Amino acid sequence: MNTPHGTPRLAAVIVLAAGEGTRMKSATPKVLHRIGGRTLLGHAIAAARAAEPDHLAVVVRHERDLVAKHVGEVDPGAIVADQDDVKGTGRAAQCALDALPNDLEGTILVTYGDVPLLSGETLHQLVDHHAASGSAATVITANLENPTGYGRILRGGDDAVEGIVEQKDATPEQLAITEINSGIYAFDAAVLREALAQVTTDNAQGEKYLTDVLAIARAAGSRVSAHLIDDLWQTEGVNDRVQLARLGRELNRRITERWMRAGVTIVDPETTWIDADVTIGQDATILPNTQLLGATVVGADAVVGPDTTLNGTEVGERAEVKRTEALLAVIGPDATVGPFSYLRPGTVLGAKGKIGGFVETKNAKIGDGAKVPHLTYCGDATIGEGANIGAGTIFANYDGVAKHHTTVGAHSFVGSDSVLIAPVNIADGAYVGAGSAVTADVGPGQIAVARGMQRNIAGWVARRRAGTKTADAAEAAARHTPDAGEADQP
Ligand code: UD1
Ligand code: CA
Repeated sequence: MNTPHGTPRLAAVIVLAAGEGTRMKSATPKVLHRIGGRTLLGHAIAAARAAEPDHLAVVVRHERDLVAKHVGEVDPGAIVADQDDVKGTGRAAQCALDALPNDLEGTILVTYGDVPLLSGETLHQLVDHHAASGSAATVITANLENPTGYGRILRGGDDAVEGIVEQKDATPEQLAITEINSGIYAFDAAVLREALAQVTTDNAQGEKYLTDVLAIARAAGSRVSAHLIDDLWQTEGVNDRVQLARLGRELNRRITERWMRAGVTIVDPETTWIDADVTIGQDATILPNTQLLGATVVGADAVVGPDTTLNGTEVGERAEVKRTEALLAVIGPDATVGPFSYLRPGTVLGAKGKIGGFVETKNAKIGDGAKVPHLTYCGDATIGEGANIGAGTIFANYDGVAKHHTTVGAHSFVGSDSVLIAPVNIADGAYVGAGSAVTADVGPGQIAVARGMQRNIAGWVARRRAGTKTADAAEAAARHTPDAGEADQP
Protein backbone atom coordinates (compact mmCIF):
# COMPACT_ATOMS: atom_id res chain seq x y z
CA MET A 1 0.00 0.00 0.00
CA ASN A 2 1.38 3.38 -0.93
CA THR A 3 1.03 6.82 0.62
CA PRO A 4 0.21 9.84 -1.56
CA HIS A 5 4.00 10.35 -1.88
CA GLY A 6 4.34 7.01 -3.55
CA THR A 7 6.51 5.80 -0.67
CA PRO A 8 5.61 2.43 0.81
CA ARG A 9 3.28 2.50 3.75
CA LEU A 10 4.93 2.75 7.13
CA ALA A 11 3.48 0.74 10.01
CA ALA A 12 5.31 2.45 12.85
CA VAL A 13 8.21 4.57 13.98
CA ILE A 14 9.81 3.70 17.31
CA VAL A 15 11.74 6.54 18.93
CA LEU A 16 14.20 5.35 21.59
CA ALA A 17 14.39 7.77 24.50
CA ALA A 18 14.92 5.64 27.59
CA GLY A 19 18.64 6.34 28.04
CA GLU A 20 20.01 8.42 30.87
CA GLY A 21 22.30 10.97 29.22
CA THR A 22 24.63 11.34 32.21
CA ARG A 23 27.13 13.49 30.30
CA MET A 24 24.63 16.33 30.14
CA LYS A 25 25.17 16.72 33.91
CA SER A 26 21.63 17.98 34.19
CA ALA A 27 18.55 17.59 36.33
CA THR A 28 16.60 17.78 33.07
CA PRO A 29 16.47 14.54 31.07
CA LYS A 30 18.71 14.81 28.00
CA VAL A 31 15.91 14.45 25.46
CA LEU A 32 14.09 17.41 27.03
CA HIS A 33 16.95 19.84 26.39
CA ARG A 34 16.15 22.24 23.59
CA ILE A 35 17.54 23.56 20.36
CA GLY A 36 15.62 25.63 17.83
CA GLY A 37 12.75 26.04 20.29
CA ARG A 38 11.93 22.34 20.49
CA THR A 39 13.21 19.58 22.71
CA LEU A 40 15.56 17.05 21.17
CA LEU A 41 12.71 14.57 21.49
CA GLY A 42 10.35 17.09 19.88
CA HIS A 43 12.61 17.19 16.82
CA ALA A 44 12.78 13.39 16.73
CA ILE A 45 9.00 13.13 16.97
CA ALA A 46 8.52 15.75 14.23
CA ALA A 47 10.79 13.80 11.88
CA ALA A 48 9.02 10.56 12.77
CA ARG A 49 5.62 12.14 12.09
CA ALA A 50 6.84 13.50 8.77
CA ALA A 51 7.45 9.91 7.71
CA GLU A 52 3.67 9.39 8.12
CA PRO A 53 3.59 6.17 10.15
CA ASP A 54 0.37 4.51 11.25
CA HIS A 55 1.76 4.38 14.79
CA LEU A 56 4.42 6.26 16.66
CA ALA A 57 5.89 4.87 19.88
CA VAL A 58 8.37 6.55 22.20
CA VAL A 59 10.32 4.33 24.58
CA VAL A 60 10.92 5.88 28.00
CA ARG A 61 12.52 4.91 31.26
CA HIS A 62 14.90 7.53 32.71
CA GLU A 63 12.75 10.33 34.25
CA ARG A 64 9.85 8.41 32.79
CA ASP A 65 7.02 10.70 33.98
CA LEU A 66 8.63 13.94 32.76
CA VAL A 67 9.42 12.49 29.36
CA ALA A 68 6.01 10.81 29.00
CA LYS A 69 4.26 14.08 29.89
CA HIS A 70 6.25 15.91 27.26
CA VAL A 71 5.39 13.29 24.65
CA GLY A 72 1.72 13.80 25.49
CA GLU A 73 2.10 17.54 24.97
CA VAL A 74 3.94 17.51 21.66
CA ASP A 75 2.18 14.51 20.16
CA PRO A 76 -0.95 13.29 21.94
CA GLY A 77 -1.30 10.49 19.40
CA ALA A 78 2.05 8.92 20.26
CA ILE A 79 2.21 5.73 22.32
CA VAL A 80 4.46 5.83 25.36
CA ALA A 81 6.22 2.50 25.84
CA ASP A 82 7.98 1.73 29.11
CA GLN A 83 11.31 -0.06 29.07
CA ASP A 84 11.90 -2.48 31.94
CA ASP A 85 15.10 -3.32 33.85
CA VAL A 86 16.72 -5.09 30.93
CA LYS A 87 19.16 -2.72 29.27
CA GLY A 88 19.98 -1.99 25.69
CA THR A 89 18.57 -0.67 22.45
CA GLY A 90 17.28 -4.13 21.54
CA ARG A 91 15.27 -4.35 24.72
CA ALA A 92 13.97 -0.82 24.12
CA ALA A 93 12.70 -1.81 20.66
CA GLN A 94 11.15 -4.95 22.11
CA CYS A 95 9.28 -2.94 24.75
CA ALA A 96 7.96 -0.68 21.98
CA LEU A 97 6.73 -3.69 20.01
CA ASP A 98 4.92 -4.89 23.14
CA ALA A 99 3.14 -1.54 23.35
CA LEU A 100 2.18 -1.52 19.65
CA PRO A 101 -0.62 -3.65 18.15
CA ASN A 102 0.78 -7.19 17.96
CA ASP A 103 -0.52 -7.88 14.46
CA LEU A 104 1.61 -5.06 13.03
CA GLU A 105 2.85 -5.77 9.50
CA GLY A 106 5.07 -3.90 7.10
CA THR A 107 7.92 -1.56 7.81
CA ILE A 108 8.96 -0.26 11.23
CA LEU A 109 11.55 2.50 11.66
CA VAL A 110 13.70 2.92 14.73
CA THR A 111 15.14 6.35 15.52
CA TYR A 112 16.70 8.05 18.55
CA GLY A 113 15.24 10.77 20.72
CA ASP A 114 18.61 12.52 20.96
CA VAL A 115 19.37 12.90 17.22
CA PRO A 116 17.66 16.20 16.43
CA LEU A 117 18.81 16.98 12.89
CA LEU A 118 17.52 13.80 11.28
CA SER A 119 14.89 14.89 8.77
CA GLY A 120 11.61 13.38 7.71
CA GLU A 121 12.95 13.47 4.16
CA THR A 122 15.84 11.19 5.12
CA LEU A 123 13.37 8.79 6.73
CA HIS A 124 11.33 8.77 3.51
CA GLN A 125 14.51 7.93 1.59
CA LEU A 126 15.33 5.17 4.07
CA VAL A 127 11.88 3.66 3.60
CA ASP A 128 12.23 3.90 -0.20
CA HIS A 129 15.68 2.27 -0.18
CA HIS A 130 14.46 -0.43 2.21
CA ALA A 131 11.49 -1.25 -0.05
CA ALA A 132 13.35 -0.96 -3.36
CA SER A 133 16.12 -3.31 -2.20
CA GLY A 134 13.63 -5.79 -0.78
CA SER A 135 15.47 -5.76 2.54
CA ALA A 136 14.32 -7.10 5.87
CA ALA A 137 16.59 -4.63 7.63
CA THR A 138 18.19 -1.41 6.38
CA VAL A 139 20.48 0.71 8.49
CA ILE A 140 21.48 4.32 7.90
CA THR A 141 25.26 4.49 7.88
CA ALA A 142 27.89 7.19 7.43
CA ASN A 143 31.63 7.27 6.90
CA LEU A 144 33.36 9.11 9.73
CA GLU A 145 36.95 10.26 9.92
CA ASN A 146 36.85 9.36 13.58
CA PRO A 147 34.42 6.48 14.15
CA THR A 148 35.40 5.98 17.80
CA GLY A 149 32.48 5.01 20.01
CA TYR A 150 30.12 3.98 17.23
CA GLY A 151 29.10 0.54 16.15
CA ARG A 152 30.94 -0.49 12.95
CA ILE A 153 29.28 -1.85 9.83
CA LEU A 154 30.59 -5.29 8.84
CA ARG A 155 30.43 -5.97 5.12
CA GLY A 156 31.09 -9.27 3.38
CA GLY A 157 33.13 -9.98 0.30
CA ASP A 158 30.21 -8.98 -1.92
CA ASP A 159 29.95 -5.72 0.04
CA ALA A 160 26.65 -6.88 1.54
CA VAL A 161 26.02 -5.88 5.14
CA GLU A 162 26.65 -8.83 7.46
CA GLY A 163 26.19 -7.21 10.80
CA ILE A 164 27.24 -4.50 13.25
CA VAL A 165 29.88 -4.75 15.92
CA GLU A 166 29.97 -2.40 18.89
CA GLN A 167 33.14 -0.46 19.73
CA LYS A 168 33.52 -2.39 22.99
CA ASP A 169 33.18 -5.76 21.29
CA ALA A 170 35.26 -5.04 18.20
CA THR A 171 38.59 -6.52 17.17
CA PRO A 172 41.43 -4.13 16.21
CA GLU A 173 40.70 -4.81 12.51
CA GLN A 174 37.02 -4.02 13.02
CA LEU A 175 37.91 -0.82 14.87
CA ALA A 176 39.65 0.37 11.70
CA ILE A 177 36.31 0.36 9.85
CA THR A 178 35.08 3.92 9.30
CA GLU A 179 31.52 3.13 8.24
CA ILE A 180 29.40 3.56 11.35
CA ASN A 181 25.94 2.62 12.51
CA SER A 182 23.79 5.74 12.92
CA GLY A 183 21.31 3.77 15.01
CA ILE A 184 18.49 4.63 12.59
CA TYR A 185 16.93 1.61 10.88
CA ALA A 186 14.07 0.26 8.83
CA PHE A 187 12.89 -3.25 9.67
CA ASP A 188 10.29 -5.62 8.46
CA ALA A 189 7.99 -5.93 11.47
CA ALA A 190 7.90 -9.72 11.58
CA VAL A 191 11.67 -10.06 11.10
CA LEU A 192 12.30 -7.52 13.88
CA ARG A 193 9.95 -9.30 16.27
CA GLU A 194 11.46 -12.72 15.61
CA ALA A 195 15.07 -11.57 15.67
CA LEU A 196 14.65 -9.61 18.91
CA ALA A 197 13.40 -12.77 20.57
CA GLN A 198 16.82 -14.29 19.82
CA VAL A 199 18.96 -11.37 20.98
CA THR A 200 20.94 -12.12 24.14
CA THR A 201 22.92 -10.00 26.58
CA ASP A 202 26.06 -11.94 25.82
CA ASN A 203 28.36 -8.99 25.04
CA ALA A 204 30.83 -6.59 26.64
CA GLN A 205 28.07 -4.36 28.05
CA GLY A 206 25.62 -7.08 29.09
CA GLU A 207 22.87 -5.39 27.10
CA LYS A 208 20.37 -6.50 24.49
CA TYR A 209 21.76 -4.90 21.35
CA LEU A 210 19.35 -3.90 18.61
CA THR A 211 22.36 -4.11 16.31
CA ASP A 212 22.37 -7.90 16.68
CA VAL A 213 19.09 -8.05 14.74
CA LEU A 214 20.96 -7.46 11.48
CA ALA A 215 23.22 -10.51 11.78
CA ILE A 216 20.32 -12.65 13.02
CA ALA A 217 18.14 -11.60 10.05
CA ARG A 218 20.98 -12.21 7.66
CA ALA A 219 21.68 -15.66 9.12
CA ALA A 220 17.99 -16.47 8.59
CA GLY A 221 18.46 -15.69 4.91
CA SER A 222 16.96 -12.20 4.81
CA ARG A 223 18.45 -9.34 2.91
CA VAL A 224 20.17 -6.67 5.00
CA SER A 225 21.36 -3.40 3.53
CA ALA A 226 22.90 -0.05 4.38
CA HIS A 227 21.62 3.38 3.38
CA LEU A 228 24.81 5.45 3.36
CA ILE A 229 24.27 9.18 3.81
CA ASP A 230 26.68 12.11 3.36
CA ASP A 231 25.00 14.56 5.67
CA LEU A 232 26.73 13.54 8.89
CA TRP A 233 24.79 16.07 10.96
CA GLN A 234 21.67 13.97 10.53
CA THR A 235 23.22 11.06 12.38
CA GLU A 236 24.81 13.05 15.18
CA GLY A 237 23.39 12.57 18.65
CA VAL A 238 23.65 14.94 21.58
CA ASN A 239 25.65 13.56 24.47
CA ASP A 240 26.81 16.72 26.25
CA ARG A 241 26.19 20.45 26.21
CA VAL A 242 29.02 21.13 23.79
CA GLN A 243 27.26 18.96 21.23
CA LEU A 244 23.96 20.57 22.16
CA ALA A 245 25.33 24.00 21.19
CA ARG A 246 27.05 22.61 18.09
CA LEU A 247 23.88 21.00 16.79
CA GLY A 248 21.85 24.02 17.84
CA ARG A 249 24.03 26.27 15.70
CA GLU A 250 23.86 23.91 12.73
CA LEU A 251 20.10 23.66 13.04
CA ASN A 252 19.92 27.45 13.05
CA ARG A 253 22.18 27.60 10.01
CA ARG A 254 19.79 25.26 8.21
CA ILE A 255 16.71 27.20 9.28
CA THR A 256 18.10 30.61 8.30
CA GLU A 257 19.28 29.22 4.97
CA ARG A 258 15.84 27.76 4.30
CA TRP A 259 14.18 31.15 4.92
CA MET A 260 16.70 32.99 2.76
CA ARG A 261 16.02 30.52 -0.05
CA ALA A 262 12.31 31.16 0.46
CA GLY A 263 12.77 34.90 -0.14
CA VAL A 264 13.55 36.38 3.26
CA THR A 265 16.48 38.78 3.67
CA ILE A 266 18.56 37.85 6.70
CA VAL A 267 21.33 40.40 6.95
CA ASP A 268 23.45 38.43 9.41
CA PRO A 269 22.49 34.76 9.72
CA GLU A 270 25.25 34.25 12.28
CA THR A 271 23.53 36.45 14.85
CA THR A 272 19.97 35.66 13.84
CA TRP A 273 18.28 32.80 15.69
CA ILE A 274 15.08 31.39 14.31
CA ASP A 275 13.15 28.59 15.97
CA ALA A 276 11.89 25.61 13.99
CA ASP A 277 8.22 26.61 14.29
CA VAL A 278 8.59 30.22 13.09
CA THR A 279 7.13 31.33 9.76
CA ILE A 280 8.28 34.35 7.75
CA GLY A 281 6.65 35.99 4.75
CA GLN A 282 8.32 36.84 1.49
CA ASP A 283 10.55 39.91 1.32
CA ALA A 284 10.60 40.32 5.06
CA THR A 285 13.94 41.61 6.35
CA ILE A 286 15.54 40.35 9.54
CA LEU A 287 18.29 42.60 10.88
CA PRO A 288 21.26 41.44 13.02
CA ASN A 289 20.98 40.16 16.58
CA THR A 290 17.37 39.12 16.25
CA GLN A 291 15.74 36.07 17.81
CA LEU A 292 12.45 34.82 16.40
CA LEU A 293 11.22 32.25 18.88
CA GLY A 294 8.36 29.85 19.45
CA ALA A 295 5.48 30.16 17.03
CA THR A 296 6.38 33.68 15.90
CA VAL A 297 4.94 34.71 12.56
CA VAL A 298 6.48 37.55 10.55
CA GLY A 299 4.41 38.91 7.69
CA ALA A 300 5.58 39.71 4.18
CA ASP A 301 7.67 42.88 3.76
CA ALA A 302 7.98 43.38 7.51
CA VAL A 303 11.30 44.57 8.94
CA VAL A 304 12.37 43.08 12.26
CA GLY A 305 15.46 44.06 14.23
CA PRO A 306 18.16 44.84 14.94
CA ASP A 307 18.45 43.58 18.52
CA THR A 308 14.94 42.20 18.78
CA THR A 309 13.51 39.14 20.51
CA LEU A 310 10.02 38.03 19.51
CA ASN A 311 8.47 35.00 21.15
CA GLY A 312 5.10 33.66 20.05
CA THR A 313 4.47 37.01 18.42
CA GLU A 314 2.68 37.87 15.21
CA VAL A 315 4.05 40.71 13.08
CA GLY A 316 1.78 42.01 10.33
CA GLU A 317 2.78 42.74 6.77
CA ARG A 318 5.02 45.77 6.30
CA ALA A 319 5.27 46.37 10.05
CA GLU A 320 8.58 47.58 11.49
CA VAL A 321 9.81 46.26 14.81
CA LYS A 322 13.08 47.68 16.07
CA ARG A 323 15.09 46.88 19.25
CA THR A 324 12.08 45.27 20.87
CA GLU A 325 11.25 42.44 23.27
CA ALA A 326 7.82 40.90 22.70
CA LEU A 327 6.08 37.85 24.12
CA LEU A 328 2.69 36.60 22.89
CA ALA A 329 1.88 39.89 21.21
CA VAL A 330 0.18 40.78 17.94
CA ILE A 331 1.52 43.66 15.86
CA GLY A 332 -0.77 44.77 13.07
CA PRO A 333 0.11 45.43 9.44
CA ASP A 334 2.03 48.66 8.78
CA ALA A 335 2.46 49.21 12.51
CA THR A 336 5.72 50.41 14.03
CA VAL A 337 7.25 49.26 17.28
CA GLY A 338 10.40 50.42 19.02
CA PRO A 339 13.12 51.24 19.55
CA PHE A 340 13.28 49.95 23.12
CA SER A 341 9.73 48.68 23.48
CA TYR A 342 8.58 45.85 25.73
CA LEU A 343 5.41 44.07 24.61
CA ARG A 344 4.06 41.58 27.10
CA PRO A 345 1.33 38.94 26.62
CA GLY A 346 -2.00 40.17 25.35
CA THR A 347 -0.66 43.19 23.55
CA VAL A 348 -2.57 43.69 20.29
CA LEU A 349 -1.50 46.64 18.20
CA GLY A 350 -3.79 47.58 15.32
CA ALA A 351 -2.92 48.35 11.73
CA LYS A 352 -0.71 51.42 11.34
CA GLY A 353 -0.54 51.74 15.13
CA LYS A 354 2.58 52.76 16.98
CA ILE A 355 4.29 51.65 20.16
CA GLY A 356 7.38 53.79 20.61
CA GLY A 357 10.47 54.14 22.75
CA PHE A 358 10.49 53.01 26.37
CA VAL A 359 6.90 51.85 26.27
CA GLU A 360 5.77 48.71 28.13
CA THR A 361 2.43 47.17 27.24
CA LYS A 362 0.53 44.23 28.70
CA ASN A 363 -2.97 42.95 27.95
CA ALA A 364 -3.50 46.09 25.91
CA LYS A 365 -5.62 46.37 22.80
CA ILE A 366 -4.42 49.37 20.86
CA GLY A 367 -6.63 50.28 17.92
CA ASP A 368 -5.82 50.93 14.30
CA GLY A 369 -3.68 54.02 13.87
CA ALA A 370 -3.52 54.64 17.62
CA LYS A 371 -0.21 55.84 19.01
CA VAL A 372 1.58 55.19 22.26
CA PRO A 373 4.81 56.81 21.22
CA HIS A 374 6.96 57.58 24.29
CA LEU A 375 7.74 56.50 27.84
CA THR A 376 4.49 54.81 28.80
CA TYR A 377 3.27 51.88 30.86
CA CYS A 378 0.06 50.62 29.30
CA GLY A 379 -1.40 47.62 31.14
CA ASP A 380 -4.96 46.24 31.00
CA ALA A 381 -6.20 48.80 28.52
CA THR A 382 -8.32 49.23 25.44
CA ILE A 383 -7.33 52.15 23.26
CA GLY A 384 -9.61 53.12 20.40
CA GLU A 385 -8.54 53.77 16.85
CA GLY A 386 -6.62 56.93 16.16
CA ALA A 387 -6.16 57.78 19.84
CA ASN A 388 -2.94 59.45 20.97
CA ILE A 389 -1.37 58.72 24.30
CA GLY A 390 1.01 61.49 25.35
CA ALA A 391 4.57 60.98 26.47
CA GLY A 392 4.97 59.62 29.95
CA THR A 393 1.38 58.48 30.41
CA ILE A 394 0.95 55.73 32.98
CA PHE A 395 -2.01 53.37 33.00
CA ALA A 396 -2.17 52.69 36.75
CA ASN A 397 -3.85 49.30 36.57
CA TYR A 398 -2.96 47.87 39.96
CA ASP A 399 -4.28 49.10 43.28
CA GLY A 400 -2.09 46.77 45.29
CA VAL A 401 -4.76 44.08 45.42
CA ALA A 402 -6.39 43.71 42.01
CA LYS A 403 -5.85 44.72 38.39
CA HIS A 404 -8.36 47.06 36.73
CA HIS A 405 -9.08 48.08 33.17
CA THR A 406 -8.83 51.44 31.41
CA THR A 407 -10.52 52.46 28.20
CA VAL A 408 -9.46 55.35 26.00
CA GLY A 409 -11.95 55.96 23.20
CA ALA A 410 -11.39 56.46 19.51
CA HIS A 411 -9.54 59.62 18.47
CA SER A 412 -9.14 60.74 22.07
CA PHE A 413 -6.03 62.53 23.23
CA VAL A 414 -4.31 61.95 26.53
CA GLY A 415 -1.90 64.76 27.43
CA SER A 416 1.65 64.00 28.46
CA ASP A 417 2.55 62.79 31.91
CA SER A 418 -0.96 61.78 32.85
CA VAL A 419 -1.89 58.95 35.18
CA LEU A 420 -5.05 57.08 34.26
CA ILE A 421 -6.09 55.40 37.49
CA ALA A 422 -8.09 52.28 36.64
CA PRO A 423 -10.89 51.47 36.46
CA VAL A 424 -11.62 54.52 34.33
CA ASN A 425 -13.21 55.18 30.96
CA ILE A 426 -12.30 57.98 28.63
CA ALA A 427 -14.90 58.24 25.91
CA ASP A 428 -14.43 58.63 22.17
CA GLY A 429 -13.38 62.13 21.17
CA ALA A 430 -12.25 63.26 24.62
CA TYR A 431 -9.16 65.05 25.94
CA VAL A 432 -7.12 64.72 29.09
CA GLY A 433 -5.02 67.74 30.01
CA ALA A 434 -1.30 67.08 30.39
CA GLY A 435 -0.21 66.12 33.86
CA SER A 436 -3.64 64.95 34.97
CA ALA A 437 -4.34 62.18 37.46
CA VAL A 438 -7.62 60.85 36.08
CA THR A 439 -9.85 58.92 38.47
CA ALA A 440 -13.31 59.66 37.03
CA ASP A 441 -14.76 58.86 33.63
CA VAL A 442 -14.48 61.48 30.89
CA GLY A 443 -17.40 61.93 28.48
CA PRO A 444 -17.33 62.46 24.71
CA GLY A 445 -16.11 65.91 23.77
CA GLN A 446 -14.99 66.75 27.31
CA ILE A 447 -11.53 67.68 28.49
CA ALA A 448 -10.50 66.44 31.90
CA VAL A 449 -7.99 68.56 33.77
CA ALA A 450 -7.07 66.96 37.03
CA ARG A 451 -4.07 68.70 38.51
CA GLY A 452 -3.24 71.58 40.84
CA MET A 453 -3.98 75.05 39.46
CA GLN A 454 -0.85 77.03 38.60
CA ARG A 455 0.01 79.94 40.95
CA ASN A 456 2.77 82.47 40.07
CA ILE A 457 4.06 84.42 43.08
CA ALA A 458 5.61 87.74 42.05
CA GLY A 459 8.92 88.82 43.58
CA TRP A 460 9.59 85.42 45.17
CA VAL A 461 13.08 85.08 43.68
CA ALA A 462 14.15 88.54 44.81
CA ARG A 463 12.87 87.86 48.36
CA ARG A 464 13.96 84.26 48.88
CA ARG A 465 16.98 83.88 46.59
CA ALA A 466 18.59 87.29 46.83
CA GLY A 467 22.22 87.41 45.68
CA THR A 468 21.98 84.34 43.45
CA LYS A 469 22.58 84.32 39.70
CA THR A 470 18.91 83.52 39.35
CA ALA A 471 18.01 86.71 41.18
CA ASP A 472 20.44 88.70 38.97
CA ALA A 473 18.87 87.18 35.85
CA ALA A 474 15.39 88.04 37.11
CA GLU A 475 16.43 91.62 37.77
CA ALA A 476 18.03 91.97 34.32
CA ALA A 477 14.96 90.48 32.65
CA ALA A 478 12.68 92.88 34.54
CA ARG A 479 14.76 95.85 33.34
CA HIS A 480 14.24 94.84 29.68
CA THR A 481 10.56 93.98 30.05
CA PRO A 482 9.32 95.89 33.11
CA ASP A 483 6.01 93.93 33.25
CA ALA A 484 7.55 90.47 33.26
CA GLY A 485 7.16 88.43 36.40
CA GLU A 486 4.75 90.87 37.99
CA ALA A 487 1.47 89.09 37.32
CA ASP A 488 0.04 86.89 40.07
CA GLN A 489 -1.84 84.62 37.70
CA PRO A 490 -0.76 82.97 34.45
C1 UD1 B 1 24.14 2.77 19.72
C2 UD1 B 1 24.39 1.58 18.80
C3 UD1 B 1 25.67 1.86 18.00
C4 UD1 B 1 25.50 3.14 17.20
C5 UD1 B 1 25.14 4.28 18.13
C6 UD1 B 1 24.81 5.51 17.32
C7 UD1 B 1 23.53 -0.37 19.93
C8 UD1 B 1 23.86 -1.57 20.71
N1 UD1 B 1 24.55 0.41 19.59
O1 UD1 B 1 25.22 2.87 20.60
O2 UD1 B 1 25.92 0.80 17.11
O3 UD1 B 1 26.69 3.45 16.50
O4 UD1 B 1 23.99 3.96 18.92
O5 UD1 B 1 24.61 6.60 18.18
O6 UD1 B 1 22.38 -0.15 19.61
N2 UD1 B 1 18.30 3.69 24.58
C9 UD1 B 1 17.15 3.22 25.14
N3 UD1 B 1 17.20 2.19 26.01
C10 UD1 B 1 18.38 1.61 26.34
C11 UD1 B 1 19.56 2.11 25.76
C12 UD1 B 1 19.49 3.14 24.87
O7 UD1 B 1 16.06 3.75 24.87
O8 UD1 B 1 18.37 0.69 27.15
C13 UD1 B 1 18.22 4.82 23.64
C14 UD1 B 1 18.95 6.04 24.15
O9 UD1 B 1 18.07 6.89 24.86
C15 UD1 B 1 19.42 6.70 22.86
C16 UD1 B 1 19.62 5.51 21.94
O10 UD1 B 1 18.87 4.46 22.46
O11 UD1 B 1 18.46 7.53 22.30
C17 UD1 B 1 21.08 5.11 21.79
O12 UD1 B 1 21.57 4.81 23.04
P1 UD1 B 1 23.11 4.96 23.34
O13 UD1 B 1 23.38 4.47 24.71
O14 UD1 B 1 23.56 6.32 23.00
O15 UD1 B 1 23.71 3.93 22.29
P2 UD1 B 1 25.22 3.63 22.02
O16 UD1 B 1 25.69 2.68 23.01
O17 UD1 B 1 25.94 4.91 21.87
CA1 CA C 1 25.08 7.55 21.90
